[in-house]
Amino acid sequence: MEFKKGYFITFEGADGCGKTTQIKLLNKYLIDIGAKTLLTLEPGGSDLGKSLREILLHYDKPVADRAETFLYLADRAQHVNNIIKPALDDKKIVLCDRYVDSTLAYQGYARGGSIEELNTLNNIATGGLKSDLTIVFDIESEIAQKRLGTTKDRLEKEGLEFHKKIRTGYLELAKLEQKRIKVINANRSIEEIFSDVKKIVGELLNI
Ligand SMILES: Nc1ncnc2c1ncn2[C@@H]1O[C@H](COP(=O)(O)OP(=O)(O)OP(=O)(O)O)[C@@H](O)[C@H]1O
Ligand SMILES: [Mg+2]
Repeated sequence: MEFKKGYFITFEGADGCGKTTQIKLLNKYLIDIGAKTLLTLEPGGSDLGKSLREILLHYDKPVADRAETFLYLADRAQHVNNIIKPALDDKKIVLCDRYVDSTLAYQGYARGGSIEELNTLNNIATGGLKSDLTIVFDIESEIAQKRLGTTKDRLEKEGLEFHKKIRTGYLELAKLEQKRIKVINANRSIEEIFSDVKKIVGELLNI
């Protein structure tokens, strides 16, 4: 199946909402219908990004808020330039697990950074590349925490209040950009959620 252009789809939501589970299902579904895809993630979608991801998720001393932001942005700049843009030029469907909205939700809404400033920084890092579609998996923070169990990384260890701010942040972003951002109720079974994912993506791709 050939598309006339590349499509850029990003998956967003708080830790444990089911992004990785759903993005893998979608990737398999698209490959099965003959589409060319690139499945990637942030942080860590490029070689440089893998080193940055290690720091971001496991560095065990305090990280200044702005330092955290710039580490994510460095990862993103490299990822867009070396991985995402070439795949879109190749007319692939790029599926990315987290992108600019994660910065707005975590470093902005949850940590209190200025949304306006973060929008500007995101634009600089990406050269203005926006997603065609962003799916936010909206989940009760308590349910997400239960799904994650006890093996948590540096950000997942932040408390329930932090994750509630992230959830509210994503819902706010979706309100501001209703055409690009679609919200799915992720408090349901994997199958029920995936059927909504297929519908939303199907509308974008006309399949
Ligand atoms: N709809 C669901 N119902 C119950 N459990 C689920 C559901 N979706 C995913 N899970 C399980 O919950 C856990 C978290 O899911 P997943 O890794 O897909 O979330 P995530 O959004 O990628 O999290 P993170 O932000 O930490 O990467 C996994 O163990 C997964 O198997
Ligand atoms: Mg994940």
